[in-house]
Parts: sequence; C-alpha cells; structure tokens
Amino acid sequence: MADIVLGIGTSHSPMLTLAPEHWDIRTDADRAEQNHPYRGKTYNFDELLEIMPRDKLAKLNAVEERRARFERSDKCLDLLAQTLEEVNPDVLVIIGDDQHEWFLDDVQPAFTLFYGDEVFAKGFDAKATDVPEPMIPVRLSYTTPVDHNYPADSSVASRIITQTIEDGFDITASKLPPSRGGGPVGIGHAFGFIYRRLLNDKPVPFVPVMINTYYPPNQPTAKRCYEFGQSIGRALAGIEDDKRIAIVASGGLTHFVIDEDFDHRLIDAMQSGDVEKLTADPNTAYQSGTSEIKNWIALCGVMAGTGLKMTLHDYVPCYRSEAGTGTAMAFATWC
Ligand SMILES: [Fe+2]
Repeated sequence: MADIVLGIGTSHSPMLTLAPEHWDIRTDADRAEQNHPYRGKTYNFDELLEIMPRDKLAKLNAVEERRARFERSDKCLDLLAQTLEEVNPDVLVIIGDDQHEWFLDDVQPAFTLFYGDEVFAKGFDAKATDVPEPMIPVRLSYTTPVDHNYPADSSVASRIITQTIEDGFDITASKLPPSRGGGPVGIGHAFGFIYRRLLNDKPVPFVPVMINTYYPPNQPTAKRCYEFGQSIGRALAGIEDDKRIAIVASGGLTHFVIDEDFDHRLIDAMQSGDVEKLTADPNTAYQSGTSEIKNWIALCGVMAGTGLKMTLHDYVPCYRSEAGTGTAMAFATWC
C-alpha cells in the first residue's frame, strides 16, 4: 500500500530570491495597484498608508531588517530541500494555483488534475530577455534555463481523479499542457518553484493539482478546499503500489498586504486541527495572493487522515513598504 510520508507547506514568493535591496521593484507594482484586498475591503496604496502603522512598518521595511528576514526564509527553504532529499519520496503531489499561466479568462477551472506522463517547463533564456537584471534569479527560481520535461506520475493522478469524482468533485482533467503561440505553455510558478528550489531539479515524478484560488468568480471556498484535500488523501490511501508519497502546498501566506493576525489565526487552526476555525472565513478574506493559503488548507485536508504532525519552522512577514505590502512567508512540515 502507498504511504504518505511527508507534507510540506512553503511560500514561493519572488521575494525569496530577489535581493532585499531590490524589493522596491515589487513595491512599484504595489503603488500601481488600485485594488489591494485587505480584511474584506479594497484599498489603493495611499489609502493603505492612511490605515497602517507607518512608523512601525518603516522600521520593518529598513534594508537590514529586510535582509535578516530574507536570510531566515532562505534557511527554511534549505531545510525543506534537505528534508525532501532525506525522505526521498517516490512521488510528489504538488497543490498550487495557476496564475494566468496555463489558464486564462477563456476557461478557468476550479479544480484541475494533470495526468500526463511529463510536465513541460518553458525555458527562460537570461541572455535574451528584457527582464530587469535583479529579476533574473527570480525567473530562474520558477523555471529552467532551457525547455525541460519533468516526469509526472499519471497513475497516481488518475487515481486522484477517480476518487475525487466519486466524492462529488467534478474535477477538470488535463493530459497535455495548453498550447499558445505555436507551442506548449510551461507549468506555472507554484510548481516550478518546488522543482527548482526544493528539489534542485531532481526528477521525482510529480502530480500537479491546481486550485483556482486566485480569480473570481469560481474560487472554491476554504471549506471546499479542505474537503478536496480529504478526498485526495482517500485517493492516496487507496493506492495499492508501495509508493512513498510526499505532498506540498505551494504559496501564501497573506500578500500583497500582510495581515499577521489572519496568518496566526490560520496557523493556530492548522496546528490544533481546528477545521471549523480553519475553514470559517468567506472568499472575501481570500483574494489576490492571500488566496494561496487555500493550497495549505487543502494540504491540511490530506494530512488530517495521516497522523503526521505539523511543525512550523518559521513565519516571516517580509515587508517591502510602510503601507504594509509584501509577503508573509511560512514554512512547515508534517512528519
Ligand atoms: Fe503565487
């Protein structure tokens, strides 16, 4: 019988690779954004400045503080990579969100399972790009320098499809990457980051599970994501081959406006196994990057049936402005 041997929750933000002195590249995007979701309402950058504790945030945004938090996060990524190396699973199920990479506004499925034999990664040629120099390592943290095919485990993926359908999820099944501009579209950053940064391109067969956390109007609720995870857990438990399976939730926590209270409340619920608290918040609380926490909620649904215990290795709110923008990083394992 298959065995779930490891769970991992990890942030995958560009700020994990972008040098702290260049975080302002991302702050410029925060200034341009007119609708930052925060606690159920939306604000532009100037409006955020009015409601946030600017003096406190100015200190947290100082470059030395940025650097310290960047290093703390980097250490955690090393630890997660080392854990994966030691556990050496046969299969890696990655739960992530597609951010207009595979899916655009023509079709946006709520839940998708990829069940092909290979996952295509579109190469990023650093020599032939107009991407600003400091962003090049960021791009390379999400994709390979040249086109690449990662191995996938179609039998585990197919088992998940069968089980989730039986459990009432009319899941979208994808066997090939979408094609645009005459070629296949590369897998999104939520998945590429795990392969590049945590697996160092080691070819562990994987199963991409995509949840549309990000884009209205068909974002599954937190409760539905948790139940979806439980269904994945049932699927994996029913696999007869002796496979050792690890599962990763990719993304989060709150961004691009950091809400430490919200993050702590959810982390507490994850650690204590309080499903009601974990799934109580409405979709208005989960918009933009913050929505990626739902990938973690789905992972909690998988883990609930395993007996593995969550360890939070660090929670690192990385601020890039005194308006409270940035990304709150979190790194956890279930062992
Ligand atoms: Fe993301």
